[in-house]
This record gives sequence, structure tokens and C-alpha cells, in this order.
Amino acid sequence: MTAVAISTPGGPQVLKPEQRDVPRPEAGEILIQVKAAGVNRPDVLQRKGAYPAPPGASDLPGLEVAGVVAAVGEGVTRWNVDDRVCALTPGGGYAEYAIVHGTNALPLPQGFTFSEAAALPETFFTVWHNVFERGGLKSGETLLVHGGTSGIGTTAIQLGKAFGARVIVTAGTPEKCEACEKLGADRAINYRTEDFVAVVKEVTGGKGANVILDMVGGDYVARNYSAASVEGRIVQIATMGGAVASADFSRLMLKRLVHTGSTLRPRPVEVKAGIAAGLEAQVWPLLATRRIAPVMDMIFPLREAWRAHERMEEGDHIGKIVLDVA
Ligand SMILES: NC(=O)c1ccc[n+]([C@@H]2O[C@H](COP(=O)([O-])OP(=O)(O)OC[C@H]3O[C@@H](n4cnc5c(N)ncnc54)[C@H](OP(=O)(O)O)[C@@H]3O)[C@@H](O)[C@H]2O)c1
Repeated sequence: MTAVAISTPGGPQVLKPEQRDVPRPEAGEILIQVKAAGVNRPDVLQRKGAYPAPPGASDLPGLEVAGVVAAVGEGVTRWNVDDRVCALTPGGGYAEYAIVHGTNALPLPQGFTFSEAAALPETFFTVWHNVFERGGLKSGETLLVHGGTSGIGTTAIQLGKAFGARVIVTAGTPEKCEACEKLGADRAINYRTEDFVAVVKEVTGGKGANVILDMVGGDYVARNYSAASVEGRIVQIATMGGAVASADFSRLMLKRLVHTGSTLRPRPVEVKAGIAAGLEAQVWPLLATRRIAPVMDMIFPLREAWRAHERMEEGDHIGKIVLDVA
């Protein structure tokens, strides 16, 4: 099969097509003939050598795919050959065939193209787990999302609104802010020209945000403590602005804040299966009616994965970048 591998750590050009053997599914796993694969920021970090594949995972990049089941391993009862699925992969998505655990796959939502479906798993698993399971967002609460136009951000806006929250986001340009509000955000803050703490306070009548989804870290940590409500929950999913921070912990105590975080990729398949079950029950019906749909930025051929990474690193994209593998 054709796959795109990281020939050596470095810039986008190190992503090179090569020939590999088609992998074989072990017990509990399925082999997917990949039609489309999603591109995520963690793939960029892996390409640079900063985010190694967990033990046992493919060395190829690619955390999500959509395609057709080509073979099933022993003990898999849910899926049959020719079923159309999308799935979270522990790696190996940039290829014509990928292995996933059967419990980490979901049916292709009704009416979705493979490209649209490939744009779902990584951000939907991440947002569902961190905003709802970990952050405990409830209807009527306020959610603050940093990086509103990222793949993660565009998913968080839609899920937050669908489940009855007020959603405030931050983004770096007026165009990005406009895109977030078009998608349903109640208020988009241009963090280059406005202070997000002041705006969150103003929009919430001084109360602050109940849940904050943060991918920035660094000096945002102290500011998140200021922007959070009493009993607020701050969920860290990345530290693009720095992994080390100094903050006034008296705010954390006085407001009884919870500051937590997680990374999806190294979690056991059973945990991911639990997240998949929650998504299938509560979010897949919303996809079937297209009340929610991934925001598609650009699609590149698999062999030109380097262009997809270039686009992501330029930072002008809004929503998801996908590789066409068919
Ligand atoms: N913990 C987990 O389980 C998990 C899972 C998936 C992804 N993630 C993380 O979540 C983040 C979003 O992922 P994604 O795939 O949605 O990425 P993406 O589409 O590339 O979005 C990254 C966004 O971050 C914003 N940003 C803020 N500070 C930045 C900086 N210093 N450098 C670059 N961008 C910056 C950019 O928006 P502006 O232009 O508006 O600043 C951009 O929209 C990534 O950091 C990724 O590693 C975590």
C-alpha cells in the first residue's frame, strides 16, 4: 500500500510517500481501507519529532480516518467487511489501509462524505471528553474556547451550542472571529485587540466562564483563572503558548476552580471506547440531521500531505484539513 511516512524529523517536506505492507488486524481490531484521513496539529508535532507515537502504535502519522472495513480480527462482532466507518487511530492514518480497535470506530454518519467523516473523530472525541465528561459543561452555562477556528475550536463551538451553552471564543483575526460567530459563537474575541478576561466578564455580567477549553497555556493560565466563574472548570488540552506558567493560586482557592487536562492519544482503547459510546448516543443523531457538521477547510491528495502540513502551519485555515486517499 502507499503510505506517507516521516522520513526524518523536520519540516513539511520530510513527509514522503512510500510502499508498506498492508497491516493485518489482530483480535478485536479491524482493517479499514482508508478513503480520507484527517490532519491534526499533533501530526505536525509528531513530524517535528516532538510527539512520538505511543508504544505499539504505527510510526505513520494520522489520528483519524474514514473508509470501508476491509477485514475484521477475531472476536469483532459489530463490524463486517464493506461497512462504512470513521475511526480514531492511534497513528497510521496517512495510508491506504489502517488498523483500529473495533470499539474505536463509529458508523459513517448518514449523508456524510468520507472526507467529512474523516474530519470528525479526533476533534469530536477530544471535545466530548474534555468539555463534557471532564469539564462537565451543562445547559445554560458559559463555555470559553481558545483557538475558536481550530479543528478543535469549530467542534467545541457547535457542540457547546447544541447542548445549550453560551459560547465565547478567542481568535487572532477579524475574519476568524467572524467565522466563529457565523458558526454559532455568541461572542468572538480578537485576542490581538481585546482583553479576553474583560470581555468574558462583561458578557457574563461579571460571573465569568463556567468551563474554559484551553490549548494555549503559558500566560493564559493566570488569565483563565481570572476569566473563570466560581466553581469554574479549566481544561488544558495543549500548551502552544508555553508549558510552564506562573499563576495566582489564591484565585483557584477562592473560586474553588478545577484545573485539569488530558491527552487523548495515549489513553487505553477501553477509555476511547467509552468516549465513542457517548458520542454515538448523544452526538451522532445531531450529525445525521446536519445540525452539526465539520467545518471543512481544504482537502489535499495523500501524496501531498506535506502541503496539508504547510497549510496548517501557515495558520490561515478555518476548521479541518483532510487528505483524500481514494
Ligand atoms: N489533548 C488532546 O487530547 C488533544 C487532542 C487533539 C488536539 N489537541 C491540541 O489542540 C490544539 C488544536 O488542535 P487542532 O488540530 O484543532 O489545531 P489547529 O486547527 O491547527 O488550530 C490551532 C489553533 O491554535 C491557535 N493558536 C493559538 N496560539 C498558537 C500558537 N502559539 N501557535 C499556533 N497556533 C496557535 C490558532 O488560532 P489563532 O490563529 O486564532 O491564534 C489555531 O487556530 C493543538 O494544540 C493540538 O495539539 C489536543
